[in-house]
Amino acid sequence: MKLTVNGIEQEIASPPLTPLLHVLRDELDITSPKAGCQAGGCGTCTVLVDGEPRRSCLTAVAAVDGAEITTLEGLGEPEGLSAVQAAFYNHYAAQCGFCTPGMIVAATHLIESTGRPLERDEVLAGLEGHYCRCTGYVKIVDAVLAASRGESATVEDVPLAVAGEPEVQPKGSPA
Ligand code: FES
Ligand code: FES
Repeated sequence: MKLTVNGIEQEIASPPLTPLLHVLRDELDITSPKAGCQAGGCGTCTVLVDGEPRRSCLTAVAAVDGAEITTLEGLGEPEGLSAVQAAFYNHYAAQCGFCTPGMIVAATHLIESTGRPLERDEVLAGLEGHYCRCTGYVKIVDAVLAASRGESATVEDVPLAVAGEPEVQPKGSPA
């Protein structure tokens, strides 16, 4: 089996019924898709399969043989965040961050497929089935609205990880 993940073609050795989530995390070491409920209910494992959001925990890798997969890592880089990534940063929309990759992947698809500035109820409907235990959703929705309206400023001060050093934490919420 083959997948193109974030633009790189990969030969897949996992058994055919392995969930795409585990292929990404355990075989390819792409760890933004999170193993939450692993039953399709929480959204944190969401990735794009040929441009459409899919719950990777419920997707057997054989069912997407040959597909293009996009994860959070494929949307932007620390030195060049995507508009939605930058908006999450600027609006303090991540706390523990566990739900964040799935939220950003789904929001990116929502914005691109809608093709115009979103309204708050459209964001709520579009992110239905994505659960966050930390934020109360208000800042997440604010971030997606800002990104859809082209109002998310470029981020210049994302702390970068340094090899051998403890992980750098983003600046905290002023709230
Ligand atoms: S881990 Fe896939 S939906 Fe929860
Ligand atoms: S930021 Fe912690 S679950 Fe959403």
